[in-house]
Amino acid sequence: MSYPFQIKSFEEYQQKYKESVEQPEQFWADVAENFLWKKKWDNVLDWNFAEPKIEWFKGAKLNITENCIDRHLAEKGEDAAIIWEPNNPEERTRIVTYNRLHKRVCQVAQMLKNNGVKKGDRVCIYMGMVPELAYAVLGCARIGAIHSVIFGGFSAQSIADRLEDAQAEFIITCDGAYRGEKVIALKDVIDDALRGNKTVKKVIVYTRTRTPVSMIKGRDIWWEDEMQFAEEQVEKDGKIFFEAEAMDAEDPLFILYTSGSTGKPKGVVHSCAGYMIYTTYTFVNVFQYQPKQIHFCTADVGWITGHSYIVYGPLAAGATSLMFEGIPTYPSCSRFFDIVDKYKVNILYTAPTAIRSLMSFGDKSYKDNDLSSLKVLGTVGEPINEEAWHWYEEYIGKKNCPIVDTWWQTETGGILISNLAGVTNSKPSWATLPLPGIQPLLVDENGKEVTQPDEDGLLKGNLCIKFPWPSILRTTYGDHERCRTNYFATYPNLYFTGDGALKDKDGNYRITGRVDDVLNVSGHRIGTAEVENAINMHAGVVESAVVGYPHNIKGQGIYAYVIYNGKKAADELTKKDINVTVSKVIGPIAKPDKIQFVSGLPKTRSGKIMRRILRKIAEGETENLGDITTLLDPSVVDEIKKEKV
Ligand code: WTA
Repeated sequence: MSYPFQIKSFEEYQQKYKESVEQPEQFWADVAENFLWKKKWDNVLDWNFAEPKIEWFKGAKLNITENCIDRHLAEKGEDAAIIWEPNNPEERTRIVTYNRLHKRVCQVAQMLKNNGVKKGDRVCIYMGMVPELAYAVLGCARIGAIHSVIFGGFSAQSIADRLEDAQAEFIITCDGAYRGEKVIALKDVIDDALRGNKTVKKVIVYTRTRTPVSMIKGRDIWWEDEMQFAEEQVEKDGKIFFEAEAMDAEDPLFILYTSGSTGKPKGVVHSCAGYMIYTTYTFVNVFQYQPKQIHFCTADVGWITGHSYIVYGPLAAGATSLMFEGIPTYPSCSRFFDIVDKYKVNILYTAPTAIRSLMSFGDKSYKDNDLSSLKVLGTVGEPINEEAWHWYEEYIGKKNCPIVDTWWQTETGGILISNLAGVTNSKPSWATLPLPGIQPLLVDENGKEVTQPDEDGLLKGNLCIKFPWPSILRTTYGDHERCRTNYFATYPNLYFTGDGALKDKDGNYRITGRVDDVLNVSGHRIGTAEVENAINMHAGVVESAVVGYPHNIKGQGIYAYVIYNGKKAADELTKKDINVTVSKVIGPIAKPDKIQFVSGLPKTRSGKIMRRILRKIAEGETENLGDITTLLDPSVVDEIKKEKV
């Protein structure tokens, strides 16, 4: 498979970018010609950001799994689609060829059908990083069921909320998942999440860890039994067959929940055709993927990065995608590079937080490994500091590999701003240039485009996009108005990203971080309001305020100011209790790193918490806190400063 849409030079990038802005419909229709359609589109694009209504390739029929699997079978049926590396390096690895993937996905589709799953039904997937997770995702897509993958680090309460919001009727899970030395009892968490649930009819359980589980008659069934039964149905005369559902281009493909600055996480909805085209296009261009290369994205499929660059993008491109079950530091800090060495990985795509964590081991993480197979390095999820960038480039890339700093979001489906490996220039800590089809601009508080550079010659503002690209979110599940107010109402006729950015005179963008109340902790998005709500659930807590502060490894840490009025005095144990509460309500990823008990919070006369002040104190700033005269009680600031933890 060659990629006619792969950009090969900077001049070509400029040319393509120009075309994509001047004639976006023609541009994307040309890219779309490289996919398998059951029926071609009537209309390339219909849109307005006011509602918002965004429709790409309306009238077309397709199934994304035929693009990710079936169309590759003739040429590369025996090539590896997925290479799976287990948590424990002593355990057998698994190589899943495209033929095998085809069979398994047909079986899953059949299994789902046997259990009453229909097109449009919501299937929640809560599994560890095993190949069966990819089969489950693709099996849903094959029959047109809408999958909603939930990261294994979320608590029962979080799952319950998501099941309720999505009105999910089916769950696919595992008995447990391995993560380093730990075994996470996933089915147990699901059981808790299902107390009081009224929508879920069936729970399919895949055996991974042999953790004892409860199996409820009439509801819980074993993956292995069901798959065996399905196998006989999909296999006829030595051929594997399961008709892929003909999906409309704009039918939802999946829901993925993500945090915003207010309320509960929202279910971002992606569509079939646009998502497929854009993830494939960006995979091939950003990483400059060449046939036969091995692509190792270290994300979890529970996040958008795993959806787009472990499963859909690479498979639609006929690539070999390496899936790793474990964590970077188990059994030792060289785990990532042992894997690179073992499989001769060509592309390594990871998060700055992982890089910083490995850096902290000096040269131990890489010194015994041959990394010469690496051609391209990538980062995603948070701003990468220059020190980490240079370490990655020098010690991992040996100054031979371009680093792509890819900026994007759950809502964008694929990478929007990034250099193209070896084709356009990199700049440490800068995501650099927009992909073809992406029209960013920076605006000030009032939505006016920023055109006046600051003293460093840089434009600075809030990052917006003014034209739709194929994989932009279509709605937030069950609540379109929420989608509008969250993303399209801050600035009329613009998609607002929630990020701040700088732009240099060459048109490069540097993402400086969130400008809303969203934290980015180890590359995970967490809303401050969500964490506050969880802390406030603790019996003795009266009120709390959560802010981010710079953290060496995690990028941002969570700092919580808590007013406590429990029966016993607040002590270290109380802090632990609060952490356990947060773990129960959201999940361990949202636990505060620091908790400070305070007698009051800095509030304006109208009762609004002045987070700006709290943020500065958490960052260690004591002098320049700005104007505090508008506070109801300015004296609390001194107390908070004095007792900073
Ligand atoms: C941040 C992850 C700087 C950003 C794909 C964004 C980044 C949020 C970068 C989305 C980057 C992602 N440089 N910041 N290269 N990539 N971010 O939805 O704040 O989990 O808004 O998607 O991560 O996080 P999400």
